Amino acid sequence: MAAERRILITAGPTYEPIDAVRFIGNRSSGRLGCALAAAARDAGWDVTLLLGPVAQDLPEGIAVHRFETSDELADLLDRHFPNCDMLIMAAAVADYRPPVVSERKTPRTAGSLTLKLEPVPDLVAQCAEQRRPGQRIVGFALEEPTQLASRAKEKLRRKGVDYIVANPLATMGAGSIQAVVFTADGREITPPNDATDKSAFSRWLIEFLSGE
Ligand code: C5P
Repeated sequence: MAAERRILITAGPTYEPIDAVRFIGNRSSGRLGCALAAAARDAGWDVTLLLGPVAQDLPEGIAVHRFETSDELADLLDRHFPNCDMLIMAAAVADYRPPVVSERKTPRTAGSLTLKLEPVPDLVAQCAEQRRPGQRIVGFALEEPTQLASRAKEKLRRKGVDYIVANPLATMGAGSIQAVVFTADGREITPPNDATDKSAFSRWLIEFLSGE
């Protein structure tokens, strides 16, 4: 492996509160991020995992910090990103959230209810802006299969990351993954056919990144 040793991995969904009891979330299981953390540990990396509100078994031998909201994840990234050599941003961070959160439970009424949402800052793009030389960043793109490659390449540029793991929508919450990796220097890498279960894919991705 290269001289780098410290890897920061984010996993799972964010929950963006609406009121005292409700939130906006998504179906991310955190399974891929946990498998990546275990694979990186096994490959000799010093691993820190930032893990959202999921019920995954925690991989042993890994420092784990929990978050629920994108704000909490942003604080954890502020603390841990400067110390890592590589960031794998597998968390399914919300794109929108309610700007104002009621401290009470909003009562049901006969009428309809309109929620206002504001964009969540792009956390991986912020990390890319602040990075020091040598820090590498891997983002993810979950897209409709027909638009997977074009949207993934667009995200690679817009977010300023080094790699994008592009996978179709069916990956979310599933046991398997059919991904393609796009690199900032223009390569498109398809994992071997036997690397579709999330553990096998994770071992392949960590080996690929370690050898870059
Ligand atoms: O733009 P989109 O949500 O599809 O981008 C996915 C990638 O960007 C993932 O790596 C995800 O962790 C990251 N992301 C982020 N902050 C957001 C939304 C997504 O870091 N608010």
